[in-house]
Amino acid sequence: MKKKYLIVTYGCQMNVHESEKIAGILRSRGYEECKDEKEADIIVFNTCCIRENAENHAYGNIGALKKLKRGNPGLLIAVGGCMTQQEGAAERLRKKFPFVDIVFGTHNLDSLGELLDRKAGSKKAVVDIWGKEGEIREDDYSFRTSYPNAWVNIMYGCNNFCSYCIVPYVRGRERSRAPEKISEEVDRLIDGGYKEITLLGQNVNSYGNDREGECSFPQLLRRLCRREDKFRLRFMTSNPKDFGEELVRAIAECPQICHLVHLPVQAGSDRILKLMNRKYTAAEYLRKVELLRKYVPDCQLTTDIMVGFPTETEEDFRATLSLVREAGFSTAFTFVYSRRSGTAAAKMEGQIPESVQKERIMRLVELVNEQTREKSACYRGRTIEILCEDYDEKKGLYLGRDEYGRMGYFRSEKNRIGEFVRLKIGETSGVSLMGEPAD
Ligand code: SAH
Ligand code: SF4
Ligand code: F3S
Repeated sequence: MKKKYLIVTYGCQMNVHESEKIAGILRSRGYEECKDEKEADIIVFNTCCIRENAENHAYGNIGALKKLKRGNPGLLIAVGGCMTQQEGAAERLRKKFPFVDIVFGTHNLDSLGELLDRKAGSKKAVVDIWGKEGEIREDDYSFRTSYPNAWVNIMYGCNNFCSYCIVPYVRGRERSRAPEKISEEVDRLIDGGYKEITLLGQNVNSYGNDREGECSFPQLLRRLCRREDKFRLRFMTSNPKDFGEELVRAIAECPQICHLVHLPVQAGSDRILKLMNRKYTAAEYLRKVELLRKYVPDCQLTTDIMVGFPTETEEDFRATLSLVREAGFSTAFTFVYSRRSGTAAAKMEGQIPESVQKERIMRLVELVNEQTREKSACYRGRTIEILCEDYDEKKGLYLGRDEYGRMGYFRSEKNRIGEFVRLKIGETSGVSLMGEPAD
């Protein structure tokens, strides 16, 4: 019987895709996937540390395995990802959970197979965290689970050091993949039937800066869009400071690029943006939004917003609310600032009490939801094209997104996953749309 693996993933799309790489490594060693931790021979936690609750979540779930491990000493438990890459985190983890067998970081995910070999020959835990970035491994060994969508890394790391953010500390400096390697991977995926490619990087707009101007991000997009086939191209994340006309023109001119841009603004107060080290003002941000809408009038915009950053006043917070109204986001991911040890903001005076943070996030979420509902209501009676990506067994409905990221649901006798489906929209609720196939 084959040995079984279970991977538990926290955090961003980057981690979701890296879990596909972990799955690829385990499968190449003869493991197959299982859904139940009681059946697993190895459980891998791919962790995140962007906010404290992401870490608490992982800690809680790892701790809960103590009993299972006692009853099944052959079970291997491995912990990797951003959380373990933080300074001193591996030691803390080992102290708290001595039953963990393998600890690895973000820079040596590719060598998980070797760590498994090392563990097989030893009773002791294998802890291996690299302080430095490794070489980019170019063979695509991912076991992809998101057909018809595929994630493709175009770069790793981040150089921006926004003052609140732990990512540059746990993901290292920016490293861009060679353009030809990216286009080979994208070609292979589309030839293999994938219909939507999402390019991943912490700041895709600085793609290529470390490769002596060989190929900029807009040039990369144009290169990937040379194919005639019907597919969708998305990317995340764009940092507003590097978002410019060349990119906007590529979005306008390449039919495969979805008219949805995720452009995290974080805050609407210039004073707070400066303290965050974001390198743009609210007015500059809004000018970029205007530029985007000038070239791509139907383009939708989503964002990330944070409340309760150190020293944020009621007036600063109101500036965020007013920017949300002005920018007309179709939806937003909203966060309460979380103090991350080692970052510049963690040392700032004027940390905001939790009660104030909570009150602000509630007001922000209410405004965002109101805007999202208004945008959804505009869909009533319209016909949209979705890429069918899944079947929801509970609801008995197929689902997929339109190019603007809106989820449409429909009934069908036939499996339509992987097809573009035109839907006539009837009911709308929140972000979800219910429709009838129009063909
Ligand atoms: N590279 C992306 C963001 C990656 S992190 C960018 O620059 O936009 C995703 C989001 O998590 C961020 O946009 C930010 O809103 C939020 N975030 C990051 N650090 C945080 C912290 N310390 N507390 C709360 N939210 C945080
Ligand atoms: Fe974090 Fe800023 Fe880098 Fe995004 S750009 S990952 S928020 S440091
Ligand atoms: Fe992503 Fe979390 Fe790491 S958001 S980059 S998994 S800290």
